[in-house]
Order: sequence, then C-alpha cells, then structure tokens
Amino acid sequence: MSRRAVTVRSTQVAIIGAGPAGLLLSSLLAREGIDSVVVERESREHVQGRIRAGLLEWTTVELLREAGVGGRALREGLIHEGFDVAFAGGHHRLDLKALTGKTMLVYGQNELQKDLAEARSEPGAVLWEARDVTLHDWDQETPRVSYTHAGSRHELRCDFLAGCDGYHGASRAGLPRAGLTLYERVYPFGWLGLLADVPPLHEELVYANHERGFALCSMRSRGRSRYYVQCPLEDKVEEWPDARFWEELRLRLPERYSARLVTGPALEKSIVPLRSLVTEPMRFGRLFLVGDAAHIVPPTGAKGLNLAAADVRVLSRGLIEFYRNRSATLLEEYSARALSRVWKATRFSWWFTLLMHRFAGDPFARRLQSAELEYLANSEAAARSLAENYVGLSFD
Ligand code: FAD
Ligand code: DHB
Repeated sequence: MSRRAVTVRSTQVAIIGAGPAGLLLSSLLAREGIDSVVVERESREHVQGRIRAGLLEWTTVELLREAGVGGRALREGLIHEGFDVAFAGGHHRLDLKALTGKTMLVYGQNELQKDLAEARSEPGAVLWEARDVTLHDWDQETPRVSYTHAGSRHELRCDFLAGCDGYHGASRAGLPRAGLTLYERVYPFGWLGLLADVPPLHEELVYANHERGFALCSMRSRGRSRYYVQCPLEDKVEEWPDARFWEELRLRLPERYSARLVTGPALEKSIVPLRSLVTEPMRFGRLFLVGDAAHIVPPTGAKGLNLAAADVRVLSRGLIEFYRNRSATLLEEYSARALSRVWKATRFSWWFTLLMHRFAGDPFARRLQSAELEYLANSEAAARSLAENYVGLSFD
C-alpha cells in the first residue's frame, strides 16, 4: 500500500480563514515583509458573496488604510454622523459627530472582502477551497497546518498560527476543552434580514423599539437598503415572503418613516440567531484566536466585524514587533489586550440588545426599556455613553 505524498512548504505566519480578519492580517504583515499563507475552506466567490456586516468604525477604516486597502471604502462608502432611535411613536437622533467627534462608514462586508482578496491576489498567498484543514503542534516551536488543496495533501510549517476561521472553524475546535473557558449568552430571538435595491427610507440608520419587536433600517449605498426585523428563533426564511417582511417592517416604524418606505424584491433574505460568546484565553502557545473564532456578539450596534479588526490590530503589532526586534512582549500581551476590548464591546452589544428588543412575557423589562429610552433622549450624558461605545472605544 503506498502512502499519498504530502507536499511540505514553510511560511512565517499560517492564517486559517480568509474572512475580514485573516485577509487583513495577511495584508498588514505583507507590508512589513512578513510572509504568510491564508488557508480558506470556501471559494473566493462564496466568501465575497456572503451578506453580513455593513458598518465600519473609524479605527477599522484607519487599519484598512494602513494595510493599503481602504481606498475604495473611502471613495464609495457613506459617512454617517448620527443615527435615529425610534420608540413610543417618536424618534430621537443621536449626533455621533457632536457627541464624540467621530463618524461611521457604511460599507458592505462583501465589498470589503473583494478589496482584501484583491490585495492578496498574488499566487499562493491565499489558498481557496482548502479542505480538511487540521492544526498541529500549536504548543511546539514549529507548528503546522495540514490540508487538502487541488486534490493533494499539503503541510504548511510556520512560526505562528492565526486562527481567523470564525465561529465554526477548526482552530478553536482543535483546542483541549480543559484549557478553554467559554462565556455564553443566547438570546430568545433572531434577526431576519432583507437586502433590496430600493433607496433607504432615511439618510441615516434607524433603530426601532416597538411592541411588535425590534427593527433596523440600514443601507449599503444610496440605492441599496438593508432592513432587519426581530423574529422568533424557530422561524424559517420560507415563512417570510417579501410582502410579509415589508408589512412587518412598516408596522414597527413610526409614521414619518413608514410613509417613506419603498419596497422591492429581496436580493437576499436570511435569519441570524443572536448570541454573545467569549473564549478565554485568546492565545494558546503559538496559536492566536482572532475575530469570530474567539468571540461572537449579537449584531445590535455592529461590533462583530469591528472587533475582528481590533484583534488584528493588536496581533499584527505583536508579530511585527517580534520579527523586527525579536521581542515577544506584545505577543504575550495579545490575549489580555484583545479581551479587554472584547468584553467592553460584549457589554455594549448585550446592553443595546436588551434595550431595543421585545422580550415576551416580561412587562417589568418593558417598563425599564421605556425609562431608559426616555433617559437617553433627555440626558446628554446617557446619549454620549451610547455614542462613545457605538463609534468604538479608543485603544489604550
Ligand atoms: P469570518 O468572517 O466568519 O471568517 C472566517 C473564515 O474562515 C470564513 O471565510 C470561513 O469560510 C473560514 N473557515 C471556517 N472554517 C474553516 C476551516 N475549517 N478551514 C479553513 N477556513 C475555514 N456583524 C456586524 O457587525 N453586523 C452585522 O450586521 C452582521 N451580520 C452578520 C450576519 C451573519 C449571517 C453572520 C454569520 C455574521 C454577521 N456579523 C455581523 C458578524 C461579522 O460578519 C463577523 O463578526 C465578521 O465576519 C468576523 O470576521 P472573521 O474574519 O473573524 O470571521
Ligand atoms: C447593520 C447591522 C447592524 O447590526 C447594525 O447595528 C447596523 C447596521 C447592517 O447590516 O447594515
């Protein structure tokens, strides 16, 4: 019986997953002359077609620029200086610019994926459609990744592994359970999202708290809207024909918005469950967990993608320091530094989720929501606290 040959290759940093975290890390390292290979399970088209986040914090935009990939986002993205919170039939505008001096950028994650993939398009930089990806020896001097690519088995030897492979990835799954602590909160509802080529109903985002449930009016461009409604966890997309979605959204918005709602056929419709999850620590020997591989936040407040970028910022600085000066200090601090930001964003998205959604059978919680929304509308201190977290806390 002959054993199948394994092709062996080496790099400095092996990156698992070509989502925003993996590709951004690879670009930042490349600019410093640090070699990396990204190993991705799906095809490039599949990754670029996923409709997910759409709102970038300014620190994320700056990191993209540092990586040389922020140009199109800045040219085509929409700068937002505030957003509306609708409740009790009225609305209150949060002026992010006035409260924090900062703004947000509306730019779709799928567009960002295209820019990031383009920047790493040289042959061999990203291995798309790599199957059976397995991590080895993360606790040794020379870790390895093995995978099947273009029909044959390969092994990639490296100095460090970056686990950027999301919630369902191989990196976290391969770690010993005893060394990991998982903190989790599951919310009793999901978000049904719809993307359509219709003009947004307002020039800024509208977050609505309504008796029937939460609704969010977002956008991807001046001609493309992204809308969400809170739905029961057990609902299926097939139970939500377009007409039902539009009607439900209309019912949850104050008249001044619902009167302006332009409907059209859905380009995409999907349901995401809401959960908070944090894995501690985020470093295991020479393996670093990054982005959704280490933590998940509910989408309320759009922190997921921005947190992934914040992890990349911390890790890239650690790796650059290591290769420039042979100092592992920043790498040793990676987990603590990243977790400090992760927990603040976890707290914020948990709080914003509790404030905005309908929790069935909890009238006490409903009264608290009303009190807090009124407080938000009448207190600059409360509004500033929300705004500060929304635009992203500064790095220490
Ligand atoms: P991912 O983007 O998940 O990338 C991980 C990559 O690893 C993927 O390309 C995956 O194919 C690959 N991979 C997985 N397993 C393996 C393996 N075994 N081997 C090799 N590769 C592997 N955030 C917001 O802020 N706002 C939103 O509205 C929002 N909506 C979302 C909707 C959905 C349906 C989902 C799933 C997420 C949403 N998020 C949202 C979260 C946001 O998209 C993520 O936080 C962000 O994508 C994290 O980037 P990442 O690179 O860490 O992980
Ligand atoms: C979007 C998603 C969010 O969770 C959010 O808070 C704002 C915008 C979006 O998909 O556009």
